[in-house]
Amino acid sequence: MADFKRTLITAALPYANGEIHLGHLAGAYLPADVYARFLRLRGEDVLFICGTDEYGVPITLTAERKGITPKELVDRNYASIRSSFEAFGMTFDNFSQTSRAIHTETSQAFFLDLHGRGLLKQKTSEQFYSPAQDRFLADRYIEGTCPKCRKVGARGDQCEACGSSLNPTSLIDPHSVIDNSPLEKRETVHWYLPLDEWQPALQEWLGKHPDWKENVLNYCNGWFKDGLQPRAATRDLHWGVPVPLPDHDGKVFYVWFDAPIGYISATREWAIAQGDPEAWRGWWQSEDTRLIHFIGKDNIVFHAIMFPGMLMHHSEDWVLPDNVPANEFLNLEGEKLSTSRGYAVWLPEYLDTFSADTLRYTLARTLPETRDTDFSWKGLQARNDNELGNNFGNLINRVLTFAHKYFDGKVPAWTDDDLTDLDCAALDEVAACMDRWEGHLATFEIRAAVEDAFAAGQTGNRYFDESAPFRTRKDDLERCGVSIAVALQILRQICVMMTPIVPFAMEKVWGWLGMETDLHFGGLEEGRRPLPAGRSLGKQEILFPRLEDEVIEAQIERLKSL
Ligand code: 2FM
Ligand code: ZN
Repeated sequence: MADFKRTLITAALPYANGEIHLGHLAGAYLPADVYARFLRLRGEDVLFICGTDEYGVPITLTAERKGITPKELVDRNYASIRSSFEAFGMTFDNFSQTSRAIHTETSQAFFLDLHGRGLLKQKTSEQFYSPAQDRFLADRYIEGTCPKCRKVGARGDQCEACGSSLNPTSLIDPHSVIDNSPLEKRETVHWYLPLDEWQPALQEWLGKHPDWKENVLNYCNGWFKDGLQPRAATRDLHWGVPVPLPDHDGKVFYVWFDAPIGYISATREWAIAQGDPEAWRGWWQSEDTRLIHFIGKDNIVFHAIMFPGMLMHHSEDWVLPDNVPANEFLNLEGEKLSTSRGYAVWLPEYLDTFSADTLRYTLARTLPETRDTDFSWKGLQARNDNELGNNFGNLINRVLTFAHKYFDGKVPAWTDDDLTDLDCAALDEVAACMDRWEGHLATFEIRAAVEDAFAAGQTGNRYFDESAPFRTRKDDLERCGVSIAVALQILRQICVMMTPIVPFAMEKVWGWLGMETDLHFGGLEEGRRPLPAGRSLGKQEILFPRLEDEVIEAQIERLKSL
């Protein structure tokens, strides 16, 4: 066992600008939850932190379009994201919001620490200012004529017509998207994180993590090779954490400066709720804590470079990430997801019709761990029917049905001496699957871990066929009983292995196996012990109903119509 005492797990704070979709789940949230559940199964000390990222220009734009305040928008989205995450089985210890006072206080104190020691650099630049609205405008608030293709209506950051990425100062006839008023260039002063100066320290630190995923190391090495550039920590906006310095009215933190500090604020909020306000320090400022950031690939630079740089240059000693297991992207029916086009599968809508476990399993099987992967509705149907239903559900159902029918709903009598070579071979095989499963999850290889659990299910089904209790019950009821006891033991191990993936179903199975201990905390050790004879078993029900073609076709049609 490693020499740390606790693991702090974070999942990227989703923007409170819309619902969660399958791409988000496959990128960060499902892997984070599976890992947190796995560590708890092992009885480890875990804190799992998340919340919504509530600042930034897209949020103010959406709020303006809807005619509500940004705070109203983020509060609504927070509530909705929180409830769909809960229905999906996310087990955060705290799910906070960056618009809360604790975050303002935490991020301002962080800024002042860096600023007070002269570590932030000040730079003057020219930006568009709207005299009519008396404010600087962010790139996305600016429209004009594209200097490349001459189409009107190009945005300050990009021309949708020709796809060029733009700088607002290159637009012809720039004007505000809010009231079409003309804009003028004005000088503005901002604070920057000197990532260029921090590069040697960051490079040295990352050099100590050759075990990180190849995709993450490749991205980082690419940035190092190009040379890191200073990054703005402040912006001219009204929606954000105010810069806590005199003469800084109308300036707030750049959203990527405050968002990662949100992990700290959310931990502080959790500590206060525990009645021990200083308890957050054990998770952030203690050498025996391991910090793991789960994110999608578009967040790598912020979590593997910028935030560690901020932490290591703060005057206090912070835990730096021990790993940043970022995933690549998930495509949908062979095409890239596009939220602006609505080409996505949204979690609340999915959950209206389908089960969380089916989605968790399907995504876990196809996670973009090393390269982009594809989600398809037919794939989900096949995973549900052929794998969850035919492999796992079938085994659970046949073993429990048999125990109820011929053994009075109890674990049949058995001792070690009763075990045949066939019994021992099956038990050994499942134990080996479980060892592999544990090793894979410990190194964030969730897809491989699900394959290990699947193989254990296949072993269980094969064992049931070969030990043939349906035959022995006629002439050797004792032998038949031992086979059922062995199969129940296998079931219990599969139940443990599948818990992080399909927690709702496995919670039921754990109960049917007559277990009274907590599956979710410490269940791994319990699952490895032999199941005592005579224990009463619960009555099972169908866990993974088949998915009808019509409902699947309807989803495919919806996507085609977009
Ligand atoms: O990409 C995103 O969805 C960001 N809101 C992630 C922020 S992660 C962290 F830094 F807060
Ligand atoms: Zn253009």
